[in-house]
Amino acid sequence: MTYSNALRLGAVCLAFSYQSAWAEAPPQVNQVELNRLLAEDRLTAFEHAFEAGDEITEATYTLKDGAGAAVAAGQSFTRLPRADLTGTGEWAMHFPTREGGPQAQSCIACHAAPLANGAGPMAVNVAVDPLHTGDPSQFLERNTLHLFGLGAVQRVAEEMTMDLHAIALLAADQACADQAPVTLDLTTKGVGFGNISAQPEGGGDACTAKLDRSQIKGVDPDLVVRMFGWKGNHSTLRAFARNAAHNEMGLQAVELVGQKDGDYDGVTEELSIGDLTAVTIYMAALERPTSLLELADLGLHDLTKDERARIERGQERLAQAQCTACHVPSLPIESARFSEPSAVPGFAEDSLPDGSDAMAQGLYAQMPLWFDLTSDQPNNRIDQADGTVVQLGSFPKRGATGATLTWYSDFRRHDMGPGLADPVDAFGFGASVWPTRSLAGVGSTGPWLHNGHATTLRDAITAHGGDAMVSKQAFLAMESPEQEELIAFLENLVIVNLDPEEEGH
Ligand code: HEC
Ligand code: HEC
Repeated sequence: MTYSNALRLGAVCLAFSYQSAWAEAPPQVNQVELNRLLAEDRLTAFEHAFEAGDEITEATYTLKDGAGAAVAAGQSFTRLPRADLTGTGEWAMHFPTREGGPQAQSCIACHAAPLANGAGPMAVNVAVDPLHTGDPSQFLERNTLHLFGLGAVQRVAEEMTMDLHAIALLAADQACADQAPVTLDLTTKGVGFGNISAQPEGGGDACTAKLDRSQIKGVDPDLVVRMFGWKGNHSTLRAFARNAAHNEMGLQAVELVGQKDGDYDGVTEELSIGDLTAVTIYMAALERPTSLLELADLGLHDLTKDERARIERGQERLAQAQCTACHVPSLPIESARFSEPSAVPGFAEDSLPDGSDAMAQGLYAQMPLWFDLTSDQPNNRIDQADGTVVQLGSFPKRGATGATLTWYSDFRRHDMGPGLADPVDAFGFGASVWPTRSLAGVGSTGPWLHNGHATTLRDAITAHGGDAMVSKQAFLAMESPEQEELIAFLENLVIVNLDPEEEGH
């Protein structure tokens, strides 16, 4: 099958799945049942969760299912944040506080380009008002991100967080052992996050160290690497999905509001604990983005010798222009096991947002549903003529237990200058500060940048400023054929789904 065939078939399949989702009630996943399956056979439980997550993200939820919210009398959906509506049970009074919407009935209504679970066109840009200013000039505009390969992203963030926490502990221990101040660099996977200092207080066993966090860079002072969302304000896929369901669709999960009706739409228990586990596993195990070079090597895409050479030179240009200082091509993963729930501090939740105990709800960090990022992804498996299978959806193995994530990001935040600032600093770490956006799949996800305002890759590059100013200037200083090579390399980073007849969309 050629690559363009796959894309065409993908479109047919998408239309079909819209239709079928309309007719079917969304599934309800029971976490206890999932745990029972897990105890019997981990892979069966994983597959069950993946398939249910697929259905949930595609299903079209109705008012009866709990979609929508009491925006105002007789109004259940809104594309604009309505902080002005403060009447009983109206938009501004919902709990937890809304940021925007609800404005959609399904996840894939927005995550749709170029295929289901992808990014979004300009038309479904989202306006959010996290500070409830009610003032359109303060609204944040967001373009939809794609959902492919995200399990590995959470895994890298977890491992970086563990490393950074270990360095902070080491600084404290050393300061006490030496009875002298200690400063250690916060470097993990080759990426620097500033430094941390420890000052001993008291001697012997009574010694405690006071940590100075003022020189921490590119990450929150708690040293938890948060990569989800353009702003990087969520550490886990589960938390992001829970908020997306609430804000974008008005689907309030049990773990968010318990048995209460926080959006006054008359429906409770709109998403179960198991539903969110399934959605999380599904997103985590979606196929990774790929490249035209990789597809050509597998005989799935035609590239002339010239085209191939151009793309390869473009990859060198990316390094030449120092884009790779932030868009770090790949990062190692020590353990390729994605676990839901996570046991890593900053990612684990002992209690859920509704105040309930996670274990009492069937979420056991010590007995998680897990899958292997190097082998278990169901999508983009290619049966070859010689009987071997290429797992294009999985991440390449690294050593006995690890994987490699080719993501073109350093997983840290940078100040991108006033041209890329939000109108307001809603999250407290700078309106123009963003984690390095991945370039994986970037050839398939236009329009680009957090607000979708760049309609070409060139525009996305020339909008860079702040910490990326030198790099942008290096790009602009190149001859135009060199610039085009760099862009050809970016265009080669694509998202494809090769098994459209299968369940996996
Ligand atoms: C109304 C459009 C819309 C709908 C519906 C929607 N999303 Fe999103 N999604 C977005 C936008 C916009 C972003 C970027 C948000 C941001 O940066 O704050 C996003 C980002 C995400 C991300 C973060 C990806 C990353 O790499 O950081 C996840 C995960 C996600 N959505 C999951 C979901 C799930 C699951 C659903 C359904 C329950 C859903 N979304 C429904 C528009 C939507
Ligand atoms: C200082 C770090 C840094 C450097 C250097 C840098 N970038 Fe970026 N890049 C970012 C961040 C952060 C974003 C997200 C900005 C936003 O959306 O407002 C981004 C976004 C992008 C996007 C849009 C991605 C999308 O999905 O919308 C492209 C394309 C891109 N960069 C290419 C490049 C190229 C090419 C270079 C070198 C000429 C470069 N970048 C240099 C940090 C950097």
